[in-house]
Amino acid sequence: MANISYQHLNPPVRILLGPGPSNVHPRVQQAMAAPMVGHLDPYFVKIMDDTVELLRYLFRTQNKLTFPISGTGSAGMEASFCNFLEPGDTVVIGVNGVFGERMVDNAARCGAEVIPVTAEWGNIVAPEAIESALKSRKKVKMLALVHAETSTGVMQPLAEASKLAKQYGALFMVDTVTSLAGQEVAVDDWGIDICYSGTQKCISCPPGLAPFTVNQKALDIMQARKAKGPSWYLDLGLLSAYWGTGRTYHHTAPVSMIYALHEALALIYEEGLEARIKRHQKNAAALTAGLEAMGMVMHAQAAYRLNSLNSVRIPAGADDVRVRQKLLNEYNVEIGGGLGPLKGKIWRIGLMGESSSESNVLFLLYALEKILVAERCDMELGAGVNAAITVFKKS
Ligand SMILES: Cc1ncc(COP(=O)(O)O)c(C=O)c1O
Repeated sequence: MANISYQHLNPPVRILLGPGPSNVHPRVQQAMAAPMVGHLDPYFVKIMDDTVELLRYLFRTQNKLTFPISGTGSAGMEASFCNFLEPGDTVVIGVNGVFGERMVDNAARCGAEVIPVTAEWGNIVAPEAIESALKSRKKVKMLALVHAETSTGVMQPLAEASKLAKQYGALFMVDTVTSLAGQEVAVDDWGIDICYSGTQKCISCPPGLAPFTVNQKALDIMQARKAKGPSWYLDLGLLSAYWGTGRTYHHTAPVSMIYALHEALALIYEEGLEARIKRHQKNAAALTAGLEAMGMVMHAQAAYRLNSLNSVRIPAGADDVRVRQKLLNEYNVEIGGGLGPLKGKIWRIGLMGESSSESNVLFLLYALEKILVAERCDMELGAGVNAAITVFKKS
């Protein structure tokens, strides 16, 4: 037998301030270690029911079909396209970052004609541009937008887009992977027909599930498709028979992941959505004030910045990778680098769920200031932390 050398599992305890995953609450951690039961055990069936109810609260929806897809956020994205689009359909997609681009790839794989509506990475997709794309064809089946573009820190406004989708008879689909549970999301009030998220960002649960919700209008359109969709695993018809009252076996639910999500959703319910969103707002405002007091420039278009993901331009004189390595090795803090055209140009600082705390904001600003002063950047030690403290004092 080959001699396999492996290390014993002993991961470091990090402060996760990157684009996700975020830190998890000890109750969520403990839930992962709870005893295994069968996935059709009456105990687990009740946990599934609770999870659906709590997800409806979080999405602010009455949609009957609301459940966590077994798979990461990308599985939610794929389910949102492959169940609704067929060859010959047309879809309009907002593209102002990595995840809009991923949507285009997903939709094209379904055989749909894709009309991308592009914007600079850091800006929103303009509603006027969305309208001219919707107008450009006789029938557009779907308008898809990323609410929180994790690669840039931009929050896409949805109200006008939703109206436009209705006006032109298109389904309105929204990615809320980096916004749900950290920014306001109101599926029913905002007229969103199909919506998915991921567990590892503002929900503060490990990665592995994609909370998903769809309304009856979209399901009726899905049922009228000419042929079965290309994915068996993500087939919403089959999945609704499993998550609905019938509990018809489809796949073995990831029991421990659902325990964890159940607990993370319970924590959100106990905090209250409104209070949670305010917490995210306050911490992002303090972080931004701190970074700006250090002379740094936020990247995302003002007025459309996310609270959950703060993108800041790397200051002159600082080495992107070296700074992030020092943060990790000397302070145990993870932040994210830029992607695609923003690689080497921005840092992405996540303040999501459990990670969005006053102490994390102050500690990060302190660590960053010390590192950047050592990198000979032109800034004064203490300015960032003091500016953040001023914001906290006011709130
Ligand atoms: C906006 C957005 N959509 C989709 C995804 C894909 O999610 P996952 O990496 O969990 O598959 C991500 C992941 O970061 C994201 O930020």
